[in-house]
Parts: sequence; structure tokens; C-alpha cells
Amino acid sequence: MNEKQRVESQQVVAGNLPDKKSEKDFSKYFEAVYAPPSLKDAKKRGKEEVNYHKDFHIAEEFQGLGEGKKFYIRTYGCQMNEHDTEVMAGIFLGLGYAPTDTVNDADVILLNTCAIRENAENKVFGELGHLKTLKKTRPNLLIGVCGCMSQEESVVNKILKTYNQVDMVFGTHNIHRLPNILKEAYMSKEMVLEVWSKEGDVIENLPKVRKGEIKAWVNIMYGCDKFCTYCIVPYTRGKERSRRPEDIIQEVRHLAAQGYKEVTLLGQNVNAYGKDFDDLQYGLGDLMNEISKIDIPRIRFTTSHPRDFDDRLVEVLAQGGNLLDHIHLPVQSGSSEVLKMMARKYDRKRYLELVGKIRTAMPNSSLTTDIIVGFPNETDEQFEETLSLYREVEFDTAYTYIYSPREGTPAAKMEDNIPMEVKKERLQRLNALVNETSAKKMQEYEGKIVEVLVEGESKKNPDVLAGYTDKSKLVNFRGPKSIVGKIIKVKVTKAKTWSLDGELVDETVEEAMGVN
Ligand code: SAH
Ligand code: SF4
Ligand code: F3S
Repeated sequence: MNEKQRVESQQVVAGNLPDKKSEKDFSKYFEAVYAPPSLKDAKKRGKEEVNYHKDFHIAEEFQGLGEGKKFYIRTYGCQMNEHDTEVMAGIFLGLGYAPTDTVNDADVILLNTCAIRENAENKVFGELGHLKTLKKTRPNLLIGVCGCMSQEESVVNKILKTYNQVDMVFGTHNIHRLPNILKEAYMSKEMVLEVWSKEGDVIENLPKVRKGEIKAWVNIMYGCDKFCTYCIVPYTRGKERSRRPEDIIQEVRHLAAQGYKEVTLLGQNVNAYGKDFDDLQYGLGDLMNEISKIDIPRIRFTTSHPRDFDDRLVEVLAQGGNLLDHIHLPVQSGSSEVLKMMARKYDRKRYLELVGKIRTAMPNSSLTTDIIVGFPNETDEQFEETLSLYREVEFDTAYTYIYSPREGTPAAKMEDNIPMEVKKERLQRLNALVNETSAKKMQEYEGKIVEVLVEGESKKNPDVLAGYTDKSKLVNFRGPKSIVGKIIKVKVTKAKTWSLDGELVDETVEEAMGVN
């Protein structure tokens, strides 16, 4: 199917909706014309080649669409979504809109949503409730829902049925069509729905308005093919598609030239980078090696799936230079049986071996992780194995979650049989260990000198500056505003559980440059 046909088959402008009071008419209408995004279709991994487009531009018919108008985007979820928001902001500016940081004077409000857990979704539905009141006072306001929730059939159905304050719903695969969607929404004044179940091609030259001038995100790949049994991402983000190395390198070089100090390479499973190339044997290790030569002080990447973390990458990271040795390596569980049910495709032993390999090659490296508690059938003993793995590895910190069944995933077919009190108790016990370990790790910094990339005023106290170390530790200290955006030396005077207090020792640290 070409793009035009796909758009025609999947785009429905829900104009002339029948009277919503008549449920029967309404469902008949759905059956007749409405093709919702399908999780089943999204699961299919086609063999068709990914095409790379570099010809994005704002067509003449859309120019000036946003003249005199303001946009506001609220972002939920992961860095991928944050970065998509930067792209959509770029498109809005290209259309002539101005940004605003409050919903109260926005002409267009977008909620860029996350579907990872039920509570993430509930926040969005709550927000839509609030916006209904705003819409009543300002009927010309456009409200849009995009991001991962839009890729879910049940969510789209719910919005269509009960949230008629929403004017636009579009998915993660077609944000480049924002100009068309906006224009349609202005013209029809009815709900515009455009969600593609299947991912499209890779569009290279989308405009971006980056959130800051110090740190930047760079996508290296899209989608995920891992299908961990609990996870919705492979359905909402489509199959794995890697960007070509030359495009990534050019983007990072450009950021370096603009004065950015830190780049984080993004993907749901960056260790699978390059596996989809037919014509090239090239992995994340090779890419990191190339990027290490670029004159930018700090390079990070996220997220790593342990299964694809290969020796080449360990070897390249161990060269140091601008490649930071903070590795986020989600383990999810310390029990091999649970890992099997999650289809993570490694067991406790292999995970620990990988940790051993990383620590041997990089003795100062720091590891952080993600953990899910209360997966179906998880026993007390299996949960204890998670605690014992945590103690053994001594992660710097962890993001911990209660399992949340996601419709359409294999785990959702299993009985969610761990009572909520037990899930909560496990989470509390795990969090106590996370806090204790973090406090201990932070303590080790007292009296030491760390290099901090200064990001600006502390959120809590404008007289204090804040920044992050190479290991992602937040440091607060007093110093002149002129050092914002620089990497400087700070002596740690006091360790807290989640941050360090320090004193400025040297404003003129030579930045860790690329190796060439
Ligand atoms: N691609 C990343 C994870 C992205 S989602 C990886 O595999 O490492 C971020 C985290 O959310 C996951 O690591 C997992 O811990 C958590 N998560 C994902 N699905 C979940 C679910 N259904 N319930 C609870 N937590 C979940
Ligand atoms: Fe989800 Fe697993 Fe893919 Fe991570 S690797 S996004 S947890 S399916
Ligand atoms: Fe959420 Fe989608 Fe990211 S589900 S975690 S916003 S990929």
C-alpha cells in the first residue's frame, strides 16, 4: 500500500457523526466507517523495506496556518515522547504558531501520551476532563491526543465515545502529518482521527525545537521487536527501524557545532541498533566508536536490553573519552522463571555475567535498572530473588513499577493474580532497598571531586546552581551564573539519598573531548 492509500484507508474524519444519544446508530456508524488502530495489525512484522525520506517540508497550503495562534504540548512518558514533542514543536513553529507554557492562552493543546501502565493513561483521561471545562469557555480551542495511547484501539474507542471535547487523535507513526491534521481539524470542526496501525518509513529531516541548549536527544532507532510479554511498546511504536549511521553522525556533529555538551542516543532497545540493515554489518558498538570521535563532551545512550549487549559495545565503551560509563540496564526481575514468563530471553545468570563483564572492563561504571513487581504468578521466593540480585549488583538506583496488565499483550491473558496489597508491599520493600543502596552509593562521594555539567538554577533554590555528573548524579552548589553550560569541578560536601551538595573548586575544567 502506498502512503496515499494507507492514509485514505486509515484516516477517518469523523464528520456528520450520528446523534450520540442513540447508541445503536452510533455503533452501526462505527462498524460502517470506522477502522480503529488494531493491536493485532500492529503486531505483524512486515519484511518490506524501510524507506528513508529527506524531503519533509511544510507545503504551501499549510504556510501561515498558525499565524497569530499559540500551541501548548503536554508530554507524558519516556524520552522518545519528549523528543517527539520537540519535533511537533518544530512543525508548529514552521506553521507560524508561537509556543506558550500555559493551557490558558493556547489555541491548540496536544497531549502526547504514554500507554506503558494504567496509571499513565488515567492521568491523561483526568487531564481531558479538566480541558473540557476550558473548551466550554473557548469553543475555538483545538484539543488533540497523540502518542502511544492513540495507537490503542480501546483508548481511541473511549475517546470517540466519551470525550467529545477532543478534536484530533493521531498516532506515533504520523506526526509528520501534523499540518494536514490541523488543517482538517480547522475545516471540519469535527473529530479528526488519523492513526496508522503500521509504522511508516523513516523521515529524516523533520524540524525540531530542542528543549535546551546544553543537552540533546538523538533517535538512533524507532520501534521495538522484543515483545516482552507485559509490554505495549512493540504495538504502539512498530517494528525496529534503525536510522542510517551517516544521518545520526551528521546530526551529532551538527549539535556539537551548535555548542551542545551532551547527547543521549535514544531507542527502546538501542542494543539492537543496525540489526535491521540488509546491506551493512554495523552495530551500536560501531556507531558509538564513530561518535566518540566527535568533539562533544558527553555521550549517553538509553535503553539497553541486556540480551543484545555485545562484547564489541563493552570494548568500545571501555575506551572512555566522551562515552560515559553510566549504563541503564533494565533487569525487570531477579528470578529466571519470571524472566522466562516475561520473555526477556536471558536468565539471572546471564544478566550477572553481563554485569561482571561491564564491571571488569569499566571498574568505575555505574549501573541503574528497571524492575517490575507482581508479575502474574510471581511468588514470594521469586520476589526475594529480585531483592538478592539487587543486593548483589548494587545498582546506583532503579525505577520500580507494579505490574500493570496491558490489553493485547500476552501477559494480559494471564490472570493478574497477585493481590494489590502484596504488590504494594513488594514495591515498598524493594524501594526501601533501592533507597538504602542509593544512600550508601552517594555516601562514597563525600569529600571527592566530581565533574558537573551545569544546567542552571536549582529548581528548589534560585541562588543555587544544579547539574549532573557523568554518572547522572544531581549536584547542587553555589557559583556564578556564567558557568551554566560548562563542565566544572565540584567538591562534594554532603551526600543525600538522591543528590549531592558541593562547593565549586574549579571553573575551568578542560572538557573531556572526543578521542580524536
Ligand atoms: N525498552 C526498555 C523499557 C521501556 S518501558 C527496556 O526494555 O529496557 C520502561 C519500563 O517500564 C520497563 O523497563 C518496565 O520496567 C516498565 N514496564 C513496561 N511495561 C510495564 C507494565 N505492563 N507494567 C509495569 N511496568 C512496565
Ligand atoms: Fe518493552 Fe521489552 Fe521492548 Fe523494552 S525491550 S520496549 S520492555 S518490549
Ligand atoms: Fe510510554 Fe510510549 Fe514511551 S508507551 S514509555 S511513551 S514508548
